[in-house]
Amino acid sequence: MSPLINMQVSDAPAMLELWTSAAPHERLSRPLLEEKIWGDPDFRPELALVCKDQQQLQGFGVAVCRRKDDSTMGYIKLLAVAPKLQQSGIGSAIYKQLEQRCRDLGALEIRVAESAPNYLHPGVDERNVAAIAFFTKHHYGEIGRACNMTVDLGQWEKEYRQAAFGTDPSHPIRVVRATSAYAPAIREFINLHWPTWWGEVSVALRNAPISLFLALEEGKVIGFAAHDANNRGTGWFGPMGTCPQQRGRGIGRVLLAHCLDDMRRQGNESATIPWVGPVDFYRHHCGAVVDRHFVRLAKSLT
Ligand SMILES: CC(C)(COP(=O)(O)OP(=O)(O)OC[C@H]1O[C@@H](n2cnc3c(N)ncnc32)[C@H](O)[C@@H]1OP(=O)(O)O)[C@@H](O)C(=O)NCCC(=O)NCCS
Repeated sequence: MSPLINMQVSDAPAMLELWTSAAPHERLSRPLLEEKIWGDPDFRPELALVCKDQQQLQGFGVAVCRRKDDSTMGYIKLLAVAPKLQQSGIGSAIYKQLEQRCRDLGALEIRVAESAPNYLHPGVDERNVAAIAFFTKHHYGEIGRACNMTVDLGQWEKEYRQAAFGTDPSHPIRVVRATSAYAPAIREFINLHWPTWWGEVSVALRNAPISLFLALEEGKVIGFAAHDANNRGTGWFGPMGTCPQQRGRGIGRVLLAHCLDDMRRQGNESATIPWVGPVDFYRHHCGAVVDRHFVRLAKSLT
């Protein structure tokens, strides 16, 4: 087998072509590929490998290690082999190197995809039987399921937009687009309730225009919703949260509407609501439908 070498940015066009032929259900663009690899805040060159014969790309793999709950977690972010070379051991060779390097960096567990805040999907698409068989062979087990929903924004505009914004001008809750002046208050709010979401929220704060909306009451942040904070340019919604004491007042509904409206105005035809917990909330308030199902896979490295 050809040796494994560190990936270079100049490999990106060949990687994109290989990925498109090997994984037709997981569309990547050049900016998205770069965001997933070099744009990851924890990117390390030794966790990004290509397998090349002469100058021909045969396969590639990318992993990342993140600190999570006082320990280190490894994630396989991307792994692909040229279709005509599959099932000849190339995927396993790349995988084993990545797993060993994650171990060397102190990872106690390794998962596939779901590498929030920078991730392509929350798991392996349940239709991707080859990948599920591959990771099972490498001793992964299922730790749960996840789903993504899609909103048709044209339909949303016609059927939900008006109702979603509400009509009561005396409502004490104000929704504003965040500005950098709010950054310290947002950070405090996120750290208090959902510290793992700060990575995505900080991306939304750096976007121009800022793709983060805040619900304010007496000047205090009581809820937020973001978009374009991961998989940028694809119509990616979230994260979103209303502080526990304020739930049930319609705050989430209004914040969701502001984000969808912003996404629509930026030219998106649909929005993805990823890794959804409250499926009924999104179905009810914006007509979202569950259209992707994922298997979450993990392996202990201890
Ligand atoms: C997943 C993938 C990288 C595997 O690469 P590969 O080079 O074919 O893998 P290997 O040859 O090392 O296969 C190792 C084991 O995986 C399993 N496996 C791999 N492909 C399989 C398939 N199509 N059907 C069933 N089992 C399969 C087998 O158990 C195989 O062992 P065996 O040959 O002894 O039976 C490849 O299928 C691929 O590029 N898929 C598209 C991209 C993708 O979905 N990536 C995963 C998410 S990031």
